[in-house]
Amino acid sequence: GSPPLIIVAIDGGAASGKSSTSRLLAERFNLLHVDTGSFYRHITWELLRRNVPSGERTALLAALPSLNFSTRLEGRSARMLIGGQPAGDEIRSQQVNEHVSHYAAVPEVRAILLDYQRGQTEVAKQHGFRGLVMEGRDIGSVIFPDADFRFFLHADPAERVKRRAAEGRQDSIAERDRLDSSRKTAPLACPPGAIDIDSTFLTLEQVVEKLAGLIAPKLT
Ligand code: DC
Repeated sequence: GSPPLIIVAIDGGAASGKSSTSRLLAERFNLLHVDTGSFYRHITWELLRRNVPSGERTALLAALPSLNFSTRLEGRSARMLIGGQPAGDEIRSQQVNEHVSHYAAVPEVRAILLDYQRGQTEVAKQHGFRGLVMEGRDIGSVIFPDADFRFFLHADPAERVKRRAAEGRQDSIAERDRLDSSRKTAPLACPPGAIDIDSTFLTLEQVVEKLAGLIAPKLT
């Protein structure tokens, strides 16, 4: 049969460099890139559009089963579809930035994403990838605690604000991290045994080289 999939988990706070790092690693090692933050963002946008606030528990629980997820490959990235529709640029809007942590704190929202996220291994297999690199907040702790590699990226808040500003994006980084770290279910934290990397004084290339150096021996 085919060799087992290599799973790389990358967790970290908002604007910690997870996305760029994950994308470059996926390219270098022919891995499926899975941005789980985009899943939470897509659900948030969909529920806002349907006027289902995160605080209205009954309405929220009623709406969840009707979110019909599927996945489409775009380049090397897995894109979530809801009811067959891909997410638009709205998922990066200020409105979604402000609401996403509240929806992500609801245990039932996390529960419906659990199987969907684990099922990305099937997407990787179907498309002939060697493995997948999945980024988020709880990948190494909850989704794939047995991943081949578990990394946790962090950077000083001031540096992260600079990075977001350089991207021209408005984001409530500190507030999202506070909410994501203090929620009861799967809070943002470096899980025991994960490799903790402080990228405050590293360039993107340096971070990628560091991770690639650790991953490469497993893939040759
Ligand atoms: O990675 P991001 O900043 O696009 O993620 C958006 C939000 O989604 C983040 O503030 C919290 C939530 N999230 C989560 O709770 N668990 C994940 N695995 C990924 C994202």
